[in-house]
Parts: sequence; C-alpha cells; structure tokens
Amino acid sequence: MPHRPRTDGRYDALMPNPPLLPIPPGLQAPGTEGAPFERVASVADLPPGAMTRVSRGDLDVLVAHTSAGLVAVDDRCPHMAAPFSAGRLDGCTLHCPLHRGSFDTRDGEVLTFPTTGGLTAEGEYRPTWIPPGGQPKAALPPGDPKARARALTRVRRLRYYPLRVVDEGVELAWPR
Ligand code: FES
Repeated sequence: MPHRPRTDGRYDALMPNPPLLPIPPGLQAPGTEGAPFERVASVADLPPGAMTRVSRGDLDVLVAHTSAGLVAVDDRCPHMAAPFSAGRLDGCTLHCPLHRGSFDTRDGEVLTFPTTGGLTAEGEYRPTWIPPGGQPKAALPPGDPKARARALTRVRRLRYYPLRVVDEGVELAWPR
C-alpha cells in the first residue's frame, strides 16, 4: 500500500512506498542470494533520516532511510566494527561514531578515511590524520604492535542485505 509522510515524519497510506537503494555490484552479503525475506520493521517506524538496528543471532544489521531510499547494511563499521546505529545518518552518508570514518550508502565506498589510517579496500596505505581542532596523539614507537595493527587494518566497503516493502512492513533477507 502507498504511504505519505505525515507532519511527524511517519507515513500515511497515500504516497508511494519509500524507494529501495540498489545493492552495488559485488557488495551483497554472503548467503543472502535467494534467501527468504522476514519482516524487521514497519514503514511507519522508519521515516526519512531514521535508522534502526535489527539483530538475528550474532548478526546486527542497520536499516536506514536515506535521502535516496531504504538500505540495509552491516551494523558494524568496516574499520573496527563500531555500530553505525550509534552514529549518524546525513542524507546518504553514514558517519561512524568512532575515528571519523564515513561511508556512502549509494555505492558502499569510504568517503572519509578513519583518523587511525590503515589500508583501503585495495590495500593502499592511508596515514593517520588529525581532525580540525583535534589534539595530536603521542607518536607510537616504531614497531609498536598497536601502530602496526592500525596500519594493517583494511577498511572494506559496506556489505548490503536485500530489502523489500510488503504490506507496510520492511522485510529483510537474512543469510541462510
Ligand atoms: S570503527 Fe568506524 S571509523 Fe573506526
């Protein structure tokens, strides 16, 4: 059934359902191809700009209503696993609550590399950086395991879960 945003940001049954962001090639979560869909939220509870975490077993998924539509990705930052649901959604951009990393939900790409530096998805090294107004941290001695761990942490692209909207409910395909 179609929906219309109300003044409180929720939906009434008059406007089209929110669109779904297409899953970028190669970024669909393993095990979700052909997996059955299950209702995880109602459309009314996900107005534009809203995010919610849904969990099954040890898997946490973020369902977000971006400015381009609904999307579901791991609720784990691809840097060091912080929950996006504790961060911020700005248009189509997810801001991680740790290390200033941000990600574009339209293509899964890193928009702002984490302050700790590390490796891109392709393995290219990015150095640490200090946000404007931030205090520089004491340099770690060469060979320090923590510095080495930061430098070798690979920041992958987002991983996506198939979504659909049925009978005013948002349904997600969990991995088999
Ligand atoms: S855990 Fe998200 S930027 Fe570090």
